[in-house]
Amino acid sequence: MRKIAPSILAADFLNLGKDVEFVNEYADIFHLDVMDGTFVPNLSFGFPVIEAIASKATKPLDVHLMIIHPEKYVERFAKVGADMISFHLEAAMDDGTNPQQVIDLIHSLGVKAGMAIDPDVPVEELFPYLDKVDFVLLMSVFAGFGGQKFIPETYERVKTVKAEIDRLGLKTLIEVDGGVDCENCDALAEAGVSLFVAGSTVFKAEDRVAIVKRLRG
Ligand code: DX5
Ligand code: ZN
Repeated sequence: MRKIAPSILAADFLNLGKDVEFVNEYADIFHLDVMDGTFVPNLSFGFPVIEAIASKATKPLDVHLMIIHPEKYVERFAKVGADMISFHLEAAMDDGTNPQQVIDLIHSLGVKAGMAIDPDVPVEELFPYLDKVDFVLLMSVFAGFGGQKFIPETYERVKTVKAEIDRLGLKTLIEVDGGVDCENCDALAEAGVSLFVAGSTVFKAEDRVAIVKRLRG
């Protein structure tokens, strides 16, 4: 079954409470993008905003860390209410963090762990971790900004990862993030995606309820 995770980055920050209610009522997961201005050339939001959302949220919080040294902050994100935390493999590689330790830390806090990669990282790099994480996050745009155009090579990347997950007999979920819309969601689902992050497509739509329904297929 498809799960729709609206990305709060595209929400109306002057009316965040309303957008939280929308996700509670019509979608499945809150997708929360945390950026540090170093791993990606952008800043977003952090603990106080996520804590506020958590106080109203009745759906799980999926925190997508686009930061270096994710291990330094994982515990605090768990504390403010994260149910799922993903970090970028390439961030861990660049700053000398041991990815397995980050996964273990996330799990030790009772949180689901996800490993994310940008579109230019070979998907095979994820393979050693497929049996260690609960989900993998394949970026379908380069991490850092909402509202970018979907990269079509993502379909093949999803299929390759899905084939490996099946070959290993695992239940690891595949999440896709970036430029997800009503045109690509069905092909993505067919390729093996079950978690759909959608920012602009949901929050900039005139009829958000209809869009979420459509994304569900
Ligand atoms: C990009 C973020 C995405 C972004 C998606 O770095 O990880 O979650 O908010 O936004 P859309 O759906 O507008 O591409
Ligand atoms: Zn994201």
